[in-house]
Amino acid sequence: MRINIAYFTSTGNTLWLCLKAKETMEKQGHTVKLYEIIKDGEAFTKDECDLTGFFYPVWGSNPPDPMKEYRENMPPGNGKKVFLVGDCCALNGDTGYYFKQILDKKGYDVFFTDHLIMPTNFNLPYEPENYWKRVPLETERDKILSDAEKKLQEICASILKGERKFDGKGLIDRMAGALQRKTYWIADGYKSHFSVSKERCVKCGLCVRMCPSGNISETEDGDKVFGDKCMLCVKCYNLCPVNAVLICEVSIDDKKYRRYKGPAKDIKPVEYR
Ligand SMILES: Cc1cc2nc3c(=O)[nH]c(=O)nc-3n(C[C@H](O)[C@H](O)[C@H](O)COP(=O)(O)O)c2cc1C
Repeated sequence: MRINIAYFTSTGNTLWLCLKAKETMEKQGHTVKLYEIIKDGEAFTKDECDLTGFFYPVWGSNPPDPMKEYRENMPPGNGKKVFLVGDCCALNGDTGYYFKQILDKKGYDVFFTDHLIMPTNFNLPYEPENYWKRVPLETERDKILSDAEKKLQEICASILKGERKFDGKGLIDRMAGALQRKTYWIADGYKSHFSVSKERCVKCGLCVRMCPSGNISETEDGDKVFGDKCMLCVKCYNLCPVNAVLICEVSIDDKKYRRYKGPAKDIKPVEYR
């Protein structure tokens, strides 16, 4: 089978899952092609295949903005088979099922939705202590990844068998999802609170190069300016090599507001814009 998978990743978790899924499926004789939705969305739409998948991090019971936009503009499905795999740190809600309902209306046959737990890349300043999962230390991270890898194997097996599964369909998940989508404006408020610590910044320009929405520019002196196109992927905040990117001044305390450096050394999320 030829399987085409579109993904979005900011700190590499979703990419890590995609690469593992590709390896697993190809070992069983299938051909898998990965498309980063921001760069390769057009090719993903055009390229022929037998099965289409989407891998995405969960952002408030939705996929990230570029995938939402892609979803809005998808052509009629004509019964094309689709699977959806989300990754989150705690609360998935009905992300996959909600996504499925939108694609079903366009005529796709979404036969499988599921999610995995991955390390969080998202500790917002001023969140109440213990409200959300903290960015894990490396040992904790590796345990989360090894559990995720096991679940991913099961997910790949189910997809290849064409099993029908609809994670997120239950009433509680749907209520949690609806509530998260309604209150997502709270997270949106953080978009205007990004800045760069002049004391820490080494002017490497990495944040400018890796921002997926081209939202960060540089003055002649190398100071950073944030525009109004932030999608809150927190890639700059997490992956700045000297933790100079701040969300609110308090995040200068990078022991309390630990940055997430990605799932593995062989994944270089900074290269994925
Ligand atoms: C803007 C934003 C919103 C998020 N919302 C949720 C959420 O609603 N539920 C959850 O469990 N994790 C949430 N997370 C955590 C990520 O989904 C999770 O860490 C994911 O594995 C990151 O994948 P990536 O490294 O491929 O970007 C959120 C992360 C971000 C950046």
